[in-house]
Amino acid sequence: MLPGLRLISAALLPLGALSLSANAGLVRRDALPVTLPFARRLNLTGTAKLLELDQARAKAFKTRGASSSSGAGAFRQAAVFDTPATNQAVDYTATVGVGNPPQNFTLLIDTGSSNTWVGAQLLTKPFVPTTSAATGNLVVRGEPNPEVMYGSGFFIGQEFTDTVHLGDLAIENQSFGGALVAEGFEDVDGILGIGPVALTCGTLIPAVTDCIPTVTDNAFTQGLISAHEIGISFEPSSSLNNANGELTFGGVDTSKFTGPLNFVPITSTSPASEFVGIDQAITFGSADGPTVLASTSGVTDTGTTLLLIATDAFDTYQNLTGATLDSTTGLLRLDPDQVGNLQSLFFHIGDNVLEFTPNAQMWPRALNSAIGGDADSVFLIVNDIGSLSGEGLDFIDGMTFLERFYYVFDIANSRVGFATTAFTDATTN
Ligand SMILES: *[C@@H]1O[C@H](CO)[C@@H](O)[C@H](O)[C@H]1NC(C)=O
Ligand SMILES: *[C@@H]1O[C@H](CO)[C@@H](O)[C@H](O)[C@H]1NC(C)=O
Ligand SMILES: *[C@@H]1O[C@H](CO)[C@@H](O)[C@H](O)[C@H]1NC(C)=O
Ligand SMILES: *[C@@H]1O[C@H](CO)[C@@H](O)[C@H](O)[C@H]1NC(C)=O
Repeated sequence: MLPGLRLISAALLPLGALSLSANAGLVRRDALPVTLPFARRLNLTGTAKLLELDQARAKAFKTRGASSSSGAGAFRQAAVFDTPATNQAVDYTATVGVGNPPQNFTLLIDTGSSNTWVGAQLLTKPFVPTTSAATGNLVVRGEPNPEVMYGSGFFIGQEFTDTVHLGDLAIENQSFGGALVAEGFEDVDGILGIGPVALTCGTLIPAVTDCIPTVTDNAFTQGLISAHEIGISFEPSSSLNNANGELTFGGVDTSKFTGPLNFVPITSTSPASEFVGIDQAITFGSADGPTVLASTSGVTDTGTTLLLIATDAFDTYQNLTGATLDSTTGLLRLDPDQVGNLQSLFFHIGDNVLEFTPNAQMWPRALNSAIGGDADSVFLIVNDIGSLSGEGLDFIDGMTFLERFYYVFDIANSRVGFATTAFTDATTN
C-alpha cells in the first residue's frame, strides 16, 4: 500500500547513507544553486504587537520541544500539533507555485517548521486541486490555543502530492497540505517550511509515514540541486515593504557576503536541537566585555522578527543600555541623548565573534509610527523571550539579527553558517 515508505526513510538518513539509496544516482553534482526572491511585508494594523507575536512563537517552540521528547507513541500529540506560531505583523514571504500549470501562493518562509501548505485564504483564494493527487491523509498544524492567540496559526488540510515550483525549481511529487480549515492567517496563503525534516514527523493523520521530505530534501534527492543546503540573504531596510530577500536552494550566493562563511554544528541541547538551533554567548561593548547572555542554546528563525534573549539576559542588557521599557510598543526605548552610548553586542558563535552594531540593534526609525512609537525615540530590537535562561531555548536570533549576516542552513552536515555582508555595519536603522 505504501511503496514510498522505503524511499522516504532513505531520504532521512544521514548523507553517507543517502548515497546508497536508489535516489542517489539521480543527483547531479553540477546542478547550480537556484534562488527564490522573497519580500518583507510589515502590517501592524492589527491589535497584536510585534513582541507578543514573537513571544508566543518562542513559547510554541518550547511547548513543542517539551512534548515531543516525552515518548514515542504511534500517534504523537506533540508532533501533530507541532507548530510554532506564525508572525502576522512582519512577514517574509515568497511566491510558490503548486501544480501544472502552477497556482501561485504567497507563503511565509519558515525555518521554524518544515511542512509546506497552501490555501489559507479559504474564501478568496482557496487551493484548487487540478493536477494534484490527494493521498487520503490529513495534515494538521498548530493548535487552537487562546493563550497564544496572536501567535497561533492553526490549520487542517488534505495532503496532496504534485509539482511545487520554487523559482526555477520544479520539485516533483512534493507532499503539501491544501487547507480545509485555517485560522490566524490574515494576509498569507500558507507556509513554506524549510526547517529540519524531523519537524514533519507525525504531522499526518493517520500516521502512515513518520516524516515528510521537505522541499529542500526532494530538490536534493531529485538531483535538482547539488548541495543539501539553503542560503538566506536579506538586506536591512527602512521601508515598509521590501523585496530584497534571497533564498538560495542548493548552495550559497557568494555575491551576498563579504567575510568567510563560518559554520557551527546544530546544538545538541533540547529543545533548540529540534530546530535550526545553535549555541551562542553575547557580550556587550567588546568581545571580552560584560556578559549579557552566558553561553547557551537557542534557535535561528526566519519566522521571528526580533532578537529575543532570556529574561535575565534581557535585564542585564537593559541595565547596560540604560533603556526604558516603552509600554506602547513593548520595546526598549532610548531617548535621543542616550543613543550615542549604545555599544555593539558581540555574538560568540563557535570560535567566531560576530559584531552586532548599535545601528543593527535599532528598529528602523522611519518605521517607528508603524509600531506605535514616537518619531524621536530609538526603539531596540533586542527583547525578552519571556522566561529565564536554562530552558534549552534561551534566545531566538530572528530576522532583525539574520538580516545583518548571510545565513546558511547546511542540512547535509547539520550545521549553521554565518558570514558578514555589505550590510553588517550598515547604518540603516
Ligand atoms: C511521492 O512521494 C511520496 C511521499 O511524499 C511517496 O510515498 C511516493 O512513493 C512518491 N512517489 C513517487 C512516484 O516517487
Ligand atoms: C493588514 O492587516 C489587516 C488585519 O490583519 C488586514 O485587514 C489588512 O488588509 C492588512 N493590510 C495589508 C496592506 O496587507
Ligand atoms: C507565478 O509566479 C511566477 C513567479 O513569480 C510568475 O513568473 C508567474 O507569472 C506567476 N503565474 C501566475 C499565473 O500568476
Ligand atoms: C540592574 O540594575 C539594578 C539597579 O542598579 C540592579 O538592582 C539590578 O540587579 C541590575 N540587574 C541586572 C540583571 O544587572
